[in-house]
Amino acid sequence: MRVQLVGLGHVGNSLVQLIDEKEEFLKSIGLDLQVVSISDSKGTVSDENGFNLKEILRCKSIQWKDCAKYEKGVSALDAIGRVKCDVLVELTPSTLSGEPGLANINAALRMKENVVTANKGPLVVDFEGLVRRAKKNGVKLLYEATVAAHLPVFCLTESCFKADRLDGIMGILNATTNYVLGEMEIGRSFEQAVDDAVRAGWAESNYSDDVDGVDSARKLVIIANALFGEAVKLKDVKVEGIRHVEPLLRAAREENARVKLLCKIIRNETKLEMTVSPKVIAASDPFATVNQGNMALQYTFRTSHEIFVSANFIGPRQTAYAVLNDIVKIGCKTVC
Ligand SMILES: NC(=O)c1ccc[n+]([C@@H]2O[C@H](COP(=O)([O-])OP(=O)(O)OC[C@H]3O[C@@H](n4cnc5c(N)ncnc54)[C@H](OP(=O)(O)O)[C@@H]3O)[C@@H](O)[C@H]2O)c1
Repeated sequence: MRVQLVGLGHVGNSLVQLIDEKEEFLKSIGLDLQVVSISDSKGTVSDENGFNLKEILRCKSIQWKDCAKYEKGVSALDAIGRVKCDVLVELTPSTLSGEPGLANINAALRMKENVVTANKGPLVVDFEGLVRRAKKNGVKLLYEATVAAHLPVFCLTESCFKADRLDGIMGILNATTNYVLGEMEIGRSFEQAVDDAVRAGWAESNYSDDVDGVDSARKLVIIANALFGEAVKLKDVKVEGIRHVEPLLRAAREENARVKLLCKIIRNETKLEMTVSPKVIAASDPFATVNQGNMALQYTFRTSHEIFVSANFIGPRQTAYAVLNDIVKIGCKTVC
């Protein structure tokens, strides 16, 4: 199975390592994954016979200095147009415009290539269009890692609750804010807690989308489209971040309660109500046990009622695992 990769940052790097580490296991289930092309922001390297993965990571770590095959200036779009693959893995940064991921994914779908992505941007901007294009071209578009990394969000409902109806969800879907709130609960100021989060690797230096609740809202948009079948957009989510959360934290302390940035979707008669906001929750609530950068989701199904899942989020390797699992799902359709 030929894999083309766009983006070799934290997740891309971990994915290549995982494919290398799991080669024997993958072969044992009938999957011979060959990474045949990798693009980053400055160029592309391709080998139709598949790379030596350790060697390709070494080349990237020294900015492709002694990699003769790396073609500076050959963009991901150029590469998608000329490399034949079974699956395009799109791992460029998530942006509000959806680009460059949107153009990359559309190009691959038009070429009737399966797509796996961890990039929220394209799905938030045009979920309906992308899903329609994938169906029309008879290929898969899988995106488990876009929401809360390896927490099973889409595959859980797809495999266990097909015959049920989802009435609502509630979740902690942003690792950075959960970490920052935890630090503030033990007395750090917002600024100190954010600095801690950046130093500990939970937050990027540009952390506004996280602390203003926008990252969580974007995840809700994908969930609403994918699991509730509603074509909602980012503007439909009511969002409040955690910049002014001090008074809530004081109130929670008095009640021995916790504060969490909760994402909610409630299905009412006519539409979905979608909110992201900090909430005081009782110490006995399962969400109170979700600490550090961990994430959790509670589903309310009409027949099965409440299902709570949580995941210990350590970093990009787990996101890469979710991406690999999607690749395996696509490969298994044909060989396993
Ligand atoms: N980190 C996580 O655990 C996590 C969790 C869930 C979802 N995600 C999502 O997964 C995606 C990747 O995350 P990451 O942490 O790996 O990001 P990252 O470390 O910033 O890596 C981004 C990669 O994309 C490349 N890139 C940027 N612009 C490009 C362009 N125009 N054409 C081709 N390549 C381009 C970069 O190239 P250079 O190497 O040349 O800079 C880099 O290799 C993002 O959409 C992120 O939101 C990440």
